[in-house]
Amino acid sequence: MSDAVPEPVVVQPVVAPLTSAAVVLVATIEPGGESAVRAVLPDLAAFARSIGFRVPSAGLACVTGFGSEAWDRLFAGPRPADLRPFQELRGPLHHAPATPGDLLFHVRAEQMDVCFEWVSQLLGRLGNAVKVVDEVHGFRYFDHRDLLGFVDGTENPVGDDARSAALVGAEDPPFEGGSYVVVQKYLHDLAGWNALSTEQQERIIGRTKFTDMELADDVKPADSHVALNTVTGADGTERDILRANMPFGSFERGEFGTYFIGYAADPGVTEQMLRNMFLGNPPGTHDRILDFSTAVTGTLFHAPRADFLDAPPPPPSPARTTAVPEPQASAPAAPAVRDGSLRIGSLQESAP
Ligand code: HEM
Repeated sequence: MSDAVPEPVVVQPVVAPLTSAAVVLVATIEPGGESAVRAVLPDLAAFARSIGFRVPSAGLACVTGFGSEAWDRLFAGPRPADLRPFQELRGPLHHAPATPGDLLFHVRAEQMDVCFEWVSQLLGRLGNAVKVVDEVHGFRYFDHRDLLGFVDGTENPVGDDARSAALVGAEDPPFEGGSYVVVQKYLHDLAGWNALSTEQQERIIGRTKFTDMELADDVKPADSHVALNTVTGADGTERDILRANMPFGSFERGEFGTYFIGYAADPGVTEQMLRNMFLGNPPGTHDRILDFSTAVTGTLFHAPRADFLDAPPPPPSPARTTAVPEPQASAPAAPAVRDGSLRIGSLQESAP
């Protein structure tokens, strides 16, 4: 019986492999720019097809996310249940700032030219409707190492575990298959870090540097990065996120950093990790990685399912936005999925 077959939930390529190159753009929407942003959303997948089809080996994967305030400026109807502004944290020594960001574009590929071209097409269409407030061109460093010299990403969940860690489930039906993304730009004090012995560095991270083995529990300090980021839920099971960190740097600016990108089904998990790092758990044991890494940005986004971008819901009423009236053509009908029906089929990756 065909009407019993659930339609697949087509997700953005959140659970995509780490690549050699990535561009991360955070942008704000200028007053009145909402309609231009809405108008480009259904074309994002086509940009990826036009570019990706010519270079299939590049594995182009683009994810688009929206900040909490921007959501209300762009869309009527229900909001993702856990979309909220990034929570600034002030620990005794270290600060996680909350910084502006209405739109996130996370573009991954094996070649930088492919990432660059997608962004170029995007910004060509958006023109002055948006202002880019942060742009990072990340690269894969030897053995998947960060610029601190440690392999980064080893304990990321894979397969079904990655999907359940990163993608919203049936608890929020209209947004099932979406993901909450926290991004933070960290700048490293490499001179200070490199003045430490390898053993000191290993006790800060919680893993060995050369062989990338986790330190034994009786050796691993409570304020190591790995210990503070091992988070368990009320039932004692480990709560994971999916990280897509990228190293980046500029010799001109003297900047050497890690761009943290954490996808989660529940942003509360990422927030708990950040509280552990900045405030300590128990309080007083802040993550020693922060003594050598300063967070200079911090924003939370929701990356909805791909079919949401293909046919976004109508814009909010004019009272909630500064947008000029939209032409009829760019206000497509709300997709059937937003009626709250479950549509739980398989979670399928979309091309963009
Ligand atoms: C693990 C680096 C920021 C969450 C690791 C590892 C490294 C690393 C080298 C060990 C290997 C691995 O399993 O990936 C960094 C650097 C950061 C950073 C250089 C920025 C300066 C963060 C932030 C979070 C986070 C902000 C969370 C909000 C995690 C988690 C693990 C991990 C969950 C795995 C822990 C485990 O289960 O073993 N990170 N990280 N990291 N990091 Fe980070």
